[in-house]
Amino acid sequence: MSEHKVYKLDPVEVSDAWKEHAYIDNDKYLALYKESVEDPDTFWGREGQRLDWIKPYTRVKNSTFAYPDASIKWFEDGTLNVSANCTDRHLAKRADQTAIIWEPDDPETPAQHITYRELHDNVCRLANVLKAQGVKRGDRVTIYLPMIPAAAYAMLACARIGAIHSIVFGGFSPDSLAGRVEDCKSAVIITSDEGRRGGRSVPLKANADAAADKSGHVEKILVVRHTGGDIPWTEGRDIWLDEAMAEASPDCPPEEMNAEDPLFILYTSGSTGAPKGVVHCSGGYLVYTSMTHQYVFDYHDGDVYWCTADVGWVTGHSYIVYGPLANGATTLMFEGVPNYPDASRFWQVVDKHNVSIFYTAPTAIRALMGAGDDYVKSTSRKSLRLLGSVGEPINPEAWEWYYHVIGEMRCPIVDTWWQTETGGVLITPLPGATKLKPGSATRPFFGVQPALVDSEGSMIEGPGQGNLVILDSWPSMMRTVYGDHKRFVDTYFSAYKGMYFTGDGCRRDEDDYYWITGRVDDVINVSGHRMGTAEVESALVAHPKVSEAAAVGFPHDIKGQGIYCYVTLMAGEHEIDTLKKELRDWVRNEIGPIAAPDHIQFAPGLPKTRSGKIMRRILRKIAEDEYGNLGDTSTLADPTVVSHLIENRQNRR
Ligand code: WT7
Repeated sequence: MSEHKVYKLDPVEVSDAWKEHAYIDNDKYLALYKESVEDPDTFWGREGQRLDWIKPYTRVKNSTFAYPDASIKWFEDGTLNVSANCTDRHLAKRADQTAIIWEPDDPETPAQHITYRELHDNVCRLANVLKAQGVKRGDRVTIYLPMIPAAAYAMLACARIGAIHSIVFGGFSPDSLAGRVEDCKSAVIITSDEGRRGGRSVPLKANADAAADKSGHVEKILVVRHTGGDIPWTEGRDIWLDEAMAEASPDCPPEEMNAEDPLFILYTSGSTGAPKGVVHCSGGYLVYTSMTHQYVFDYHDGDVYWCTADVGWVTGHSYIVYGPLANGATTLMFEGVPNYPDASRFWQVVDKHNVSIFYTAPTAIRALMGAGDDYVKSTSRKSLRLLGSVGEPINPEAWEWYYHVIGEMRCPIVDTWWQTETGGVLITPLPGATKLKPGSATRPFFGVQPALVDSEGSMIEGPGQGNLVILDSWPSMMRTVYGDHKRFVDTYFSAYKGMYFTGDGCRRDEDDYYWITGRVDDVINVSGHRMGTAEVESALVAHPKVSEAAAVGFPHDIKGQGIYCYVTLMAGEHEIDTLKKELRDWVRNEIGPIAAPDHIQFAPGLPKTRSGKIMRRILRKIAEDEYGNLGDTSTLADPTVVSHLIENRQNRR
């Protein structure tokens, strides 16, 4: 499909309707952007006022990208509480407004509408439960929950008492959960009996038990009663959250936190080693996510806003929970999947709840596009006003379908480029200001200074292609890698001195629009989720029959990229198909379903340089079925391995 047929769509001009509705038109964008980079203290000093501060800040920006002393601080002498900004301060005006609409996996189960008053009450009770379990300011709490309102309560309850949450996506395995619990030494896990997705149940509590057995750090498991399914129970360690919350006081004064106190840790894959704990802090993060949520999605009072991500990913943190709730918005949380009970589910939910702003990922759009237009045409979608995309470059076919079929040419598409590390959207159209070019994330948001560098680190001026770097800090950027500041500095600030390296390749066109071309490091983007090839490889070599493994990405019609693994077996093991399945299941169990390889190829030898370095470039080409053009192979230690790999390639088109 997509990668064969390359075509370019015409730009879409900002319509009068979009301009009229939006906060920001192009003149305003240009003027404010100029101010934001020339005088960040004035710009962000003003913008910081969108929050309620306990003690106002006097200093706005204090940061350097210098290697190895990179340090980022925003609003550093201000104090605030993030949970109070997302709940308490809305009570005067919107206590009875819906904060969260919860749409369950099963369309027959009634939806829930949680008002700001109820949200506040639940957050305070849960915060008091945490306190009663001994959780204090600065302690880490692991959250392993499905997409239910309790996930938002748990996040905000941690923020209320100054505890640092670490959410682990419910699709991750017990081993992955244990590794993350271990890394941040979290004594408490909040989970539920089970999760539900696409009609199937996910054994979250059983997984949490297995992780607790493995890690040894876990003292308490707080369990949300969700499906009512039978679960194992350890007396003295496990606590039913509904019972504890019913007994807890609904009064919990928010802790006074410094702007730079950590709000959460979120683990994400890099090109090497175990996932790293990305640390985001309180003040700058909330200012930036609140501001971007308002302007990028053009959120106004009365809108119903739906981001289809999971709270286990950064998109869920910033644009289901923190940004929207800081703005007093109505945010929809969906427990299910796009194609259950059928491929019209998203659009039925849009109609049911009158969703006006809809934010999803290209992989979902492609999957639904493949199911055919009938699933869309049977719904109205007339409430929709704006569409968003995130997670990977959106291909022109998917963009066109999203624009024409879903939005009926009425809705602008904001293609938002950002990362777990950036905390919020950095490159994006603004609906009332930016002419859209399908496939381009377009222009930087306020305060963001992107640039392109070549492999030597020289700046590329004007139109061109290179590695995407950011030249100066913005309020919501990550502050460190949890427990490993050196890894932070080395990962992001060592490649190009004085600049933040994104890991993405990018093209800039004649209008200074940015076109992300994908990762340039050993990170694979599977359905908009990041997977380190190193993680897949270490899972494979942990199997007793595997001696060596190499994983690479390849273009995949629905997922964007798929995972292709080359596996060398231990001497005496047989290359049989049942072993391929065993290895696939093995990786799935070790990491989680998103890491399951699409192709496994047995390889008696891997292409290596004479110094023993695996030549991934060659492996990528063969995985892409582009073996005709392998480039320079003169440094190969043993050229014969390549022909064997080509003959036995798995991804033939
Ligand atoms: C990587 C970050 C933060 C959102 C979810 C993913 C890719 C993200 C886009 C986009 C092209 C995109 C980049 C980036 N990416 N959005 N609109 N266009 N590429 O967060 O897991 O931290 O992954 O996703 O490659 O580096 P993440």
